[in-house]
Amino acid sequence: MGPAPTEEARLARLVRAHDRWRGKSVLNLLPSENALSPTARKYLSSDLAGRYTLPLDSEFDGEHLDNSYGGTRYTDAIEKLGNDAAQRLFHGRFATTRPLSGHIAALSALAPLLPRGSKLLAIPPSDGGYDGYAPGFIPALLGYEVRPLPATGPGGQLDADAAVAEIRRERPNAVLLGQSFFLFPYPLKAIAEAAHAIGALVLYDASHVLGLIAGGQFQDPLREGADVMFGSTHKSFPGPQGGILVTDREELFQQIDPALVWRVFDNAHWNRIASLAQTLLEMERVGGEYAKTVVDNSRALARAVHDAGLPAVAEAQGFTASHQVLLDRAAVRARHGVGVGALARRWERQRLITDLVGRLGTGEVTRLGLTPSDMPRLADLLVRAGPGRQKVGAEVLAWRRQFPTLRFA
Ligand SMILES: Cc1ncc(COP(=O)(O)O)c(C=O)c1O
Repeated sequence: MGPAPTEEARLARLVRAHDRWRGKSVLNLLPSENALSPTARKYLSSDLAGRYTLPLDSEFDGEHLDNSYGGTRYTDAIEKLGNDAAQRLFHGRFATTRPLSGHIAALSALAPLLPRGSKLLAIPPSDGGYDGYAPGFIPALLGYEVRPLPATGPGGQLDADAAVAEIRRERPNAVLLGQSFFLFPYPLKAIAEAAHAIGALVLYDASHVLGLIAGGQFQDPLREGADVMFGSTHKSFPGPQGGILVTDREELFQQIDPALVWRVFDNAHWNRIASLAQTLLEMERVGGEYAKTVVDNSRALARAVHDAGLPAVAEAQGFTASHQVLLDRAAVRARHGVGVGALARRWERQRLITDLVGRLGTGEVTRLGLTPSDMPRLADLLVRAGPGRQKVGAEVLAWRRQFPTLRFA
């Protein structure tokens, strides 16, 4: 026996093992994740990873400073390339790629726009809304009252008349849209008209559907009436983990942008921003085809799992218009005597990665190169490995190996 491995050697082995497993040996159906293009991934480990920059316009000890840090000659241009691409893709004249995550992008919009004591209307987690907007989380931190905007349709859809009635009844300061279980676009025009009529803002959390919006699918929030759109850059949008914010309203951006640094964060992680800029530029080039294939794949996967014995919600509505398929948890349990969490554990042992709450996402498998004609085979593997408890891991691995090169990159 040789010497005991050092902690560093163990760490290296763990990272290598993770990369081999999650990067090369499974099919990933998590709707919150995606695969970075090789160039976007390369920029994450560029020299930018350790650098600071803080553009400013101020006096210090009698000198005028345009940055707190030296050595920043390239960072401004990198940031501008990303911001310009974001403005073009999402149809707003103002954008920032600085928020460090989707959650922080939400804080970045909410804190400067809405004072303590403001009232929000937000979709509750029980209807697929984001947990961060539930009363104990962001509203508790920022001192807001939050009232539920019920999403009552199959799969958590907003009904236009019900939403408008709720806005008129509650008279909130802002309507906060967006879901973690997000299948269908919102009736934004009607919601925005009702909100603006009482002076309320419409804030659109696009965390889950940003990649679809970038590709011209799902909906076009800023053109349909949302005042500010923000979200994560790594779910259906295949960028690095991080956040983004876009608006077409200059007076709102002038409140938001100067309040980011020193309130919500300081350094904005410039390797991430270079990687995000690269992904935004890639999406300008190939995002339309990517987003369409993602949605086609979701619809095909929903149809296939539903027909193969794993019931999915919203059949009458075509199952989904996003990157997500939502299993009908009660129907799955009634049919197979097992919950979706236990099925997810079985799937994981057979190299099929999902979350434990019944969502299946098609972003990453679309990047690998799967198309709608592959979805019946994927559904068959899920059924055999899940309710059927069959060992399909070798078959999944062989299939995964047929897709060595990312598409849309
Ligand atoms: C709707 C929604 N908003 C915000 C977030 C938070 O995103 P992040 O993990 O990028 O902070 C999530 C996370 O899943 C989400 O589903």
